[in-house]
Formats: sequence, structure tokens, C-alpha cells
Amino acid sequence: PRVAILFGGRSSEHAVSCVTAAGVMGAIDTNKYDVIPIGIAKSGQWVLASGDTSQWSLSSTALPEVATSGKTVTLAEIGGSHQLIVTEPNAVPQVLGSVDVVFPLLHGPWGEDGTIQGLLELSDTRYVGAGVLASAVGMDKHFMKVVFESAGLKVGPYIAVTDRDWVTDAEAVRKRVDKLGFPVFVKPARAGSSMGISKVDSLEDLDAAVEEARRHDLKLVIEAGIVGREIECAVLQGRGTDAPRTSMPGEIAVAAGEHQFYDFAAKYVEDGAAALSCPADMPDEAIARVRELAAVAFDAVGAEGLSRVDFFYTPAGELIINEINTMPGFTPKSMYPQMWAASGLAYGELIDELIHLALT
Ligand code: DAL
Ligand code: MG
Repeated sequence: PRVAILFGGRSSEHAVSCVTAAGVMGAIDTNKYDVIPIGIAKSGQWVLASGDTSQWSLSSTALPEVATSGKTVTLAEIGGSHQLIVTEPNAVPQVLGSVDVVFPLLHGPWGEDGTIQGLLELSDTRYVGAGVLASAVGMDKHFMKVVFESAGLKVGPYIAVTDRDWVTDAEAVRKRVDKLGFPVFVKPARAGSSMGISKVDSLEDLDAAVEEARRHDLKLVIEAGIVGREIECAVLQGRGTDAPRTSMPGEIAVAAGEHQFYDFAAKYVEDGAAALSCPADMPDEAIARVRELAAVAFDAVGAEGLSRVDFFYTPAGELIINEINTMPGFTPKSMYPQMWAASGLAYGELIDELIHLALT
């Protein structure tokens, strides 16, 4: 089959997506799949990208980026099938061939939020992962909580703050935040990789954190800080009508000192700032509960393909759901593939399984 790998994109997680794509392109079975790498520049332009994975690594000094180019790629229907077309200035458009499945390795808005999924639905193209609604719900930290609560999952105390709330009555917002109790985490409702998130310890620092988050999204969620271990679980859609499959849970421990929480630098830039361990050292009963609740969360939003579900495990033994990610970080070092590896499914097999699920 021909697999178009879409990566980069218009969101602030552009660079992370490039790294994810490099991981997949480096591991996908090229005897079985014909891979077409398509980069989406920050401008939104689709370009035929290099499959040379070495240029897509991430460090504090260099964030990989898809360059815009004169060569654009579009998906068009020709003679009853979908074909990729490459267009160069002053040249006749060239047909690259048909696509059997798209792997949208995009994180954040315009990639993980149902928009690209809608485009692919409109063009009747198969793709890996969640559909329009599940992607949209999973991208919005407010609506995902609404859905989780209605599915009986425990979410932490939070408030949603719209642009109107903040602009018309910031004082009322400050009062609501004060009631939550400090510290709070101020987050853009629709972003990822901790972009725009601040931990706020007192009311004086709230406004700056709100302004920072508003650079990413005018809708915010402000969450009460939760004391607990950060436990994650990988979910893979079942085959046919089978129930979702869940991995052994993993744990993230952020090294004390430097980072106040699992922020962007601890996630991607600084080696050793966060320790990922899998399987997490928890009692069997708690492991079983994490897996059960992760499957509930997957079904609650109506996810397909894959998701990573993140929890807090409190000292009292409670599991509070933090969020679902319908296109989790997917480099070989990322938690999602690592949790599967620890559960007996290697990275290459995982990619194969996801493409299989999309094609059937
Ligand atoms: N948003 C990042 C990629 C994650 O969830 O892993
Ligand atoms: Mg997320």
C-alpha cells in the first residue's frame, strides 16, 4: 500500500510532529509500504518533503521545520481515485500516484483537532487515527472534561475561561480562580506539548499566565494543581468489533528543581529532565484500574486507532484523568510506543497495526 505521511503543520507543535514523522519514516517497513512524505509548512502549504530522517531532530538550539517550496502537493480525484499531484511553478502538474492511506502525524490544532480529518473524509481517503468528532473533543481540554465526566471518569477541579469572560470581567475570573486554590495550571484549551502552560502559585501571577496562554488560544482552562504521580496508558483500537486494547501503564517523573512540571523543555529538549518508566511501579489492582479507565476514556470521546490517556494517581489511590491525546507523541522514545514495547508490541509492529486498522 501507498502511505502518505503528513507532518509539520500549522500548530505550535510543528517541530514535535517533524520528529514524530522521522521516527515513523525510519521504522516503517519499506518492503511493505510505499511511503510518500508530505510536509505541511507553518504557512499551511503542503510540500513534497524529504524522507531523509536525519534532518528532523530536535534540540534546544534547533527546532526542525518544513520549509515552504515552489513544489506544492495536493490531493485530487482523478478518474475515480485519489491522486497526489505535485505542482511546480510554470510546469505541468505531475501525478505522483494514488494514496491508499494517510498517516496524519500531526499534533495540535489543524492536525489533531478534526480539521485534517474532515478534509480526508471529504475526499473519501482512509487515514490512521481518530475521526472528526473524537479529534475535536480530544483537542479541547474543556470539552474533553465534559465528556469524561459524563462517562463517569473523575476529573480535577477546573474552570473554562472564554475570551469574552476574560475581556469583559477579568475580576470575576480571578475570583473563580481564587476559589480553586493555588497552585493552578493555566492552559490554552487547544494546544499540546505544554505550549503556553504556566503553573501559577498566587493571584498576582495569574494575569501574566493568562496572557501567555492566550497567545496560543483565546479559550483557556484553569485547573487546580493535583498532587499525584503522572501515569499514562496507551490505547489501541481493537480489531473488528473487539474492545480497545490497553498497554501496561507508564510513569513520568520530572526531576526536582529545574522544571516546575513536565514542560516543553523537559519533554523534548533536555536529556534527563524527565524519567519515563514503563511499566509503572504500581499495585496490580491499580494497574488494572488505569487500563480499564483508559479504555473508558477512549470510548467516551469515540476515538479510533490510537490514543494516550494521562492520569494523576493520588496518594489516596484515586485515579484522576488529566487528558486524552488522539495523536500522541510517536517518536521511538515517546511514551506511547514505549508503553507498547513494554507490553510486547514493538515500534515497527505498532505502525503496521495502525495502518492495518485504517485500511480495514
Ligand atoms: N501533544 C504531544 C505530542 C503528546 O501528547 O505527546
Ligand atoms: Mg494534549
